[in-house]
Order: sequence, then structure tokens, then C-alpha cells
Amino acid sequence: MQTVTVDLDDRSYPIFIGANLLENADLLLPHIGNGRVVVVTNEIVAPIYLERVQLLFGRQFGSSIVLPDGEATKNLDTIGQIYDHLLQGKYDRKTTLVALGGGVVGDITGFAAATFQRGVNFLQIPTTLLAQVDSSVGGKTGVNHALGKNMIGSFYQPKCVVADTEVLRSLPEREVRAGLAEVLKYGLINNPEFFAWLAHNSTELLELDNACISEAIKICCEAKANIVAQDEKESGIRALLNLGHTFGHAIETASGYGVWLHGETVAMGMVMAADLSKRIGWLSSAEAIQIREVLEKNFGMPVEPPADITVAQYLDLMSSDKKAELGKLRFILLKAIGEAAIEGDVEDAMLESTLTAGSKLCL
Ligand code: NAD
Ligand code: GLY
Repeated sequence: MQTVTVDLDDRSYPIFIGANLLENADLLLPHIGNGRVVVVTNEIVAPIYLERVQLLFGRQFGSSIVLPDGEATKNLDTIGQIYDHLLQGKYDRKTTLVALGGGVVGDITGFAAATFQRGVNFLQIPTTLLAQVDSSVGGKTGVNHALGKNMIGSFYQPKCVVADTEVLRSLPEREVRAGLAEVLKYGLINNPEFFAWLAHNSTELLELDNACISEAIKICCEAKANIVAQDEKESGIRALLNLGHTFGHAIETASGYGVWLHGETVAMGMVMAADLSKRIGWLSSAEAIQIREVLEKNFGMPVEPPADITVAQYLDLMSSDKKAELGKLRFILLKAIGEAAIEGDVEDAMLESTLTAGSKLCL
């Protein structure tokens, strides 16, 4: 087992990474105090892992909430249902909410924990690759609004994260690829050696080779922990973690939540960001092509955005991006593979060229 710490003074917490960690109650029990535990999960994950997790908490296990599957569940109605369950069950402020699932369950549970009785204890047991490398770490919690992705939420850190690599084996292959998009993001942002290593080991990573996937998760968690420790509330460097997300969130919202996987839209968004970076003279043509090829050929990710989203739709959806300042869009772009920066001065014509490039992105 490897342990990565998110260093936030008295709110610091460990991320445990390794195989078969869900057999080890000692990782979780020190973090639940003496209150009752409610496990929030979904209809796909519950039949596979809920019983095992329930047993870990022994007599402190109170109940579980099994949500419908999918991004469409990530809304305020679901949060209301969680509050109903907690209040009907007379759960008090000593309660611990445990997120057992992917990023959708994690984001919902974290927001419910942040707001129920002004904040109760919260643990993360991420069960997708995307959740293990990104969403379970760093305390961003929240839900979607019909007019925008992740528009309602709060920063609220868990007390610990347990990333058991064995649970990834039940993931559909499409979900593994989607998770690997967020993994590649860390290489593109500030770690060119990691990007090259990922490209070289794509087959092993797609097959979830134990040594490779554990190493990748550890490197991603270290990178995220380092950034979050410097800028928890995203007033600066943390924005770099949104590479590909301004475009990706617009695609996700325009297509309807659940049509594309979040990681898939991040893959398309990163290729769009690479394309725009090339147009403004930051990224070499060779590196832009390399990014597209690694995502498309090595990892089989979708890299062309849906053709039916208009420029006007993109601009409308991107205008509510959380990085926008005084109505001006700001993008995370690349100066090189492994060197991302924020840019607020992109000419409209160049942006429009990227938004309409379709199959020609980066080429
Ligand atoms: P997800 O939670 O929808 O999980 C993907 C699918 O895998 C679902 O169908 C789920 O039921 C299933 N699943 C989960 N674990 C499984 C397992 N072990 N075996 C079999 N099936 C399993 O999607 P995701 O990709 O994990 O997360 C995407 C969400 O995370 C988005 O809502 C995104 O906005 C959010 N996100 C949040 C952050 C953050 O910092 N909070 C960062 C990145 C993404
Ligand atoms: N996934 C982006 C962040 O946590 O900041």
C-alpha cells in the first residue's frame, strides 16, 4: 500500500492506494468518530461492493442510500432525497457519510456531507479510475444545474480516501479509458516524462496491469495533492487541473448529461485546448499532433467533438465557466507537453476556428 497525504494543516488527510484495501477496516475506522455511518452508493456498485464495505464499519453502520446510476442523478433533487433519508433516520451531527462509487456518487455525497447540519464527517471510497485519480481528492463537491455542469457545490475535504485498485477490475473498458483521460491530463499539465511513460505503457494501463495502474494513480494523487495544498479554493494554480474542461463541460451540457462520459469530453476538450494552443502560437504543430495521436491511437479515446454543437452554443455554455472573469473567457492552454498556463486573451477568430475544426483538430 502507498499513502499520499493532502497537506491542509488540521484538515490534512491520507489517500491510501493499493490492492484489496477494502479488506482492511483499520484504514477507515480511525476516521469515523463514534457516530453512525451512512454509505451512499449507486445501483451498479451496490450489488458488487456494498456488503463488503458495510461489514467494515461493524456496529457503527447505520444504513445505505442506493442512488440510480449516472450523471443525470447529480442534481439537487438527489441531494434533497439524501437529506430526507438522514432526517427520517434521525442522523445527527456525528454521522459520517461514505461515498462508495465513482465521481458522480463522490460529488453528490460530498455536497450532502458539506451541507447536512452545516457539515458532517465524510469519507471517500472511489471505485472508478477517474475518481481514484481526480474526483475523490481535493474536496470539490457539488451537483449539476440544467444550465451548467457543477454549478452548485462547495469545497469540502474528506477525512480519508481509500483507493482499492482491485475494484477497478469490474469497470467497463469505456470507463477505464475515460479515467485515463484525466490521468493523461496530469502529464500534459506539468509532467512531460509522465506523459511519455503513459503513452509507452498504454496497453498495460488499458489492461489495468497492477504495477502500472498503481504507479499512475500514485503519481496523479501526488500531483493533485501538491496543487490542492497550494491552492485549495482555486484562486490560481489549481485552475490548471481544468485543462480540457472548459470545452469538455460545454460538450457535456450541450449533449445532455450522460450521453458522453465526463472523461471522454475531457479527452475531446484537451485536443481542442491543444488545437487552440497551436493557433495562438504556444504549442508546436508536432506536439499538438502528438497529443491527438496519443489520445486517439494509443488510448482509443474520442477526440472529435460532436458536430451538432454550434459556436453560439459553445460560447453561451462556456460563458458560465467558473474561470471566466468579468464575462471574459479564460482557457487552460499548453506552451508544450508538460507546460500548461492560463490565458485570458484569445482572439475570437482563433477560438471560432477551434470550435469549428471538427475532424481537423490539431492536424
Ligand atoms: P461515474 O461516477 O458515473 O462512474 C462511471 C460508471 O461506472 C457508472 O456507471 C458507475 O455506476 C460505474 N461504476 C463505478 N464504479 C464501478 C466499479 N468498480 N465497477 C463497475 N462499475 C462501476 O463517473 P466517473 O467517471 O467516476 O466520474 C465522473 C464525475 O466526476 C462527473 O460528474 C465529473 O464532473 C466528476 N468529477 C469531479 C471532480 C472533482 O474534483 N470533484 C473531478 C473530476 C470529475
Ligand atoms: N478536477 C479539478 C479539480 O479538482 O480542481
